[in-house]
Amino acid sequence: MASGDNMDNIAKIKQSIEHIVDPSFGKSLKETDGIKHIAIDDEKNAVTLVIGVKKVDDQTKQQLTRSLAKIIKIDLGYRGMKIDFQRVIDEESLLNKGRDIKYIGVASGKGGVGKSTVAANLALALTRLGKRAGIIDADVYGSSIPTIFDMEIVLPKANADEKIIPFTHEGIEIISTEFFLKDNKPLMWRGPMLGKMLNHFFEDIAWHQELEYMIVDLPPGTGDVAMDIQKLIPQSKMLIITTPHPSASHVAIKAGYAAKELNHGLLGVVENMSYFRHNGDTIQIFGEGGGAEVAKRLETDLIAQIPIGQPESGHHSLFGMEEPIGVDYLGLANKLIKSL
Ligand SMILES: Nc1ncnc2c1ncn2[C@@H]1O[C@H](COP(=O)(O)OP(=O)(O)OP(=O)(O)O)[C@@H](O)[C@H]1O
Ligand SMILES: [Mg+2]
Repeated sequence: MASGDNMDNIAKIKQSIEHIVDPSFGKSLKETDGIKHIAIDDEKNAVTLVIGVKKVDDQTKQQLTRSLAKIIKIDLGYRGMKIDFQRVIDEESLLNKGRDIKYIGVASGKGGVGKSTVAANLALALTRLGKRAGIIDADVYGSSIPTIFDMEIVLPKANADEKIIPFTHEGIEIISTEFFLKDNKPLMWRGPMLGKMLNHFFEDIAWHQELEYMIVDLPPGTGDVAMDIQKLIPQSKMLIITTPHPSASHVAIKAGYAAKELNHGLLGVVENMSYFRHNGDTIQIFGEGGGAEVAKRLETDLIAQIPIGQPESGHHSLFGMEEPIGVDYLGLANKLIKSL
């Protein structure tokens, strides 16, 4: 147990080093709350520090080690010093700091049920309702947001602060894993690499200051990407997409449970390819009841049923907001605005 003296000495060390500027943030350790732990080994007359930094690179480590050694060893007279550098997420550059961004994670379990189509048209509908929306295409295994928006695949540019400038289409800010791939290779990254890429999306992108809604198109399934997203945006709420068919709905239930386990709130279930409108009739092509079943099992609501159909404009994926399916998307957007 730390003795009273020890406590005093720890407080003294803290006070003496908190003005030191962490070059990875350009701020003092006090401002960054970078002093994570201080311990004194009386026998060895040595100090152990855990310092949180944004980038654990050589320059940061060297600069901080030098400044800290000067105070700990020279000014305060300890013989030894050991520093553990830990990477912390820069709260301020996380998109939500001081702002009120609402995250809508779009998940499905099964692939090909229309997750990306719903994500894109939902963003359009939010924009049409006067909201500023962005899309993070985090579907590293099969990104399709750039295709949906007919975007050229080029590396985005960086601004003066070395933040990546997202592309803007139809008033929607968009960033996709696909812009960062070489030679169009499918991304088979797991764990840390994937986490890094996603980190990048959340920290190093110059999103518009007034962005209100961030739609995250998630990869199908419930694996490690979901975990990464949970860590990065614990406040993200999930929209579960399914089709009426039982093969999709039972996987969607799993995705919903995974989201719940990660403490993500559920926004509701969207049943896509729900039915076909024909001469005023509705025809159930892919079966019936999948969406309602998923909602029931997940104890949430079925908040939209989007029929099978093509945009009247001839575009492959984006609907005009005045045509019937566009109106369905406006309805969905309205519900989400109210519930968020
Ligand atoms: N309501 C709909 N009516 C007709 N076609 C649709 C509908 N929704 C999606 N589609 C089509 O189904 C295909 C799959 O849709 P989409 O790419 O949005 O699914 P996804 O769940 O994102 O798939 P993936 O798992 O590959 O990411 C696309 O060709 C899309 O245009
Ligand atoms: Mg997709």
